[in-house]
Amino acid sequence: MLDMVAGRQCARPQAEPSECMRKPGTQRVEALAAAGAEDRLDGVLLEARGLSKSFGALRVLHDISFDVRRGEVLGILGPNGAGKTTLFNLISGDLHNDAGDLVFGGERLVGQRPYARCKIGIGRTYQIPRPYVGMSTFENLLVAATFGGGRTEAQSYAFCAEILRDCELADKANRSAGSLTLLDRKRLELARALASGPSLLLLDEIAGGLTDEEGKALVQLIRRIRDRGVTIVWIEHVLHALLAVADRIMVLNFGEKIAEGQPDDVIKDPEVRRVYMGIEA
Ligand SMILES: Nc1ncnc2c1ncn2[C@@H]1O[C@H](COP(=O)(O)OP(=O)(O)OP(=O)(O)O)[C@@H](O)[C@H]1O
Ligand SMILES: [Mg+2]
Repeated sequence: MLDMVAGRQCARPQAEPSECMRKPGTQRVEALAAAGAEDRLDGVLLEARGLSKSFGALRVLHDISFDVRRGEVLGILGPNGAGKTTLFNLISGDLHNDAGDLVFGGERLVGQRPYARCKIGIGRTYQIPRPYVGMSTFENLLVAATFGGGRTEAQSYAFCAEILRDCELADKANRSAGSLTLLDRKRLELARALASGPSLLLLDEIAGGLTDEEGKALVQLIRRIRDRGVTIVWIEHVLHALLAVADRIMVLNFGEKIAEGQPDDVIKDPEVRRVYMGIEA
């Protein structure tokens, strides 16, 4: 499957987004074209600068800046309500940011609709699964592969079947998505995101509720996805699963970034231990 993910017409994971992901007329960010920025672009797929978001008087994200490097797995930690899912909603375009900028492969995301962001290579799962309930599991993937990933229907059949096998949903291919258990709906979230052929995959708490064996299988799957060149940002409370695969970790608390760095360093950070693990120094 993963060869197939990587081998889509647009060959997103390996290709420079500049050729196949940039739509005609999309704006190249002036700041990135400035001195020295080309070097940085080689290593950075997504840049977030000064992102803020409020819901009325509730300030949910404040001045969040970070880079996601090509090919890495960035883990995101934080207590409930820290703003993690809201951050994904800003990246995927489900919500508009109040301030700040997002640049993906040299293109500004701000102003682009969610479907357009999907088409240029941003795939996501939802923390609360959102299957197309009137369709079968397989049809859910077909929609993602065709409308989201730009494959023809004929190209999509084998591709989607392989993804279903990898995500352990093959025996439920013809089941109505609305009849799946919560665990299988989470698997479907991942499978559908993969079917869109993302170069950046945003995973929002997909490990919750898995047995140890299932958790290990999920970690293996995520490693295989990463090894094919897909960049991953993973919000996860199942810490041992996240630590098994994350290259770096960023921690949010009350909408502020409180730590970012190597996993070993971050989980030893006194503030992270206090706010996230409840351990006083
Ligand atoms: N559409 C919305 N309208 C109003 N408030 C919202 C909305 N979405 C999120 N919030 C609030 O914003 C805050 C951050 O929510 P968010 O879902 O981003 O947190 P989270 O870090 O993902 O938490 P969890 O770990 O529980 O999933 C919460 O207080 C939440 O109630
Ligand atoms: Mg959340």
